[in-house]
Amino acid sequence: MSDNSNALKQQAAEAAIAYVEGGIIGVGTGSTVNYFIDALAKIKGRIEGAVSSSEASTARLRQHGIEVLELNSVGTLALYVDGADESNARLQLIKGGGGALTREKIVAAASERFVCIADASKLVPVLGAFPLPVEVIPMARSLVARELTRLGGTPVWREGFVTDNGNPILDVQGLRIEDPLALEQTINQMAGVVTVGLFAHRPADVLILGSAAGPTTLTAAD
Ligand code: 5RP
Repeated sequence: MSDNSNALKQQAAEAAIAYVEGGIIGVGTGSTVNYFIDALAKIKGRIEGAVSSSEASTARLRQHGIEVLELNSVGTLALYVDGADESNARLQLIKGGGGALTREKIVAAASERFVCIADASKLVPVLGAFPLPVEVIPMARSLVARELTRLGGTPVWREGFVTDNGNPILDVQGLRIEDPLALEQTINQMAGVVTVGLFAHRPADVLILGSAAGPTTLTAAD
């Protein structure tokens, strides 16, 4: 990743701090979120703690002395901040490049507002150039791969990787996702699929893009 891209991620992450109003914050996963966690640490006195979407984010939050709470013990969250691999103009996302898609989808579903942070290269006209991650139950890996091939994609097993839930991931190449809502539903219905990294039924509410001109904010209504 270039220094420039990292600077843009950091810019978006720091802009998201304006959405933190206290309470318990949902925290996603990835290099952009790492910048958000570092910025959150500077105002940690204003929050009660965080619900984390991965072991990696949990470790970083704790290193900064931010308490990490179980989702089951906190109920609905006012705010979730997470990155994305791609976003379209409707703020429907591909996520899961870092493999945390299942817990990310759970925390996003439990949150009233989802603020997505990314560098401007992640905004695309049509989702799918980034391979779509699908977390599967181990014994269903080949079955699901065959079904994804029938949909027109090329699933590639992310070898040597297991999620925090102990499952493999198939990265589906070659999809041009014109109807993210329908594809999310179709893949969700395949036996053996744990989670598809399409966030269309629960898109982001706000997208902050780091760019050379400064952070740009889009909302689903734009
Ligand atoms: C992890 C994710 C990340 O949000 C996504 O991969 C973007 O990562 P980064 O901020 O490193 O570009 O979905 O599962």
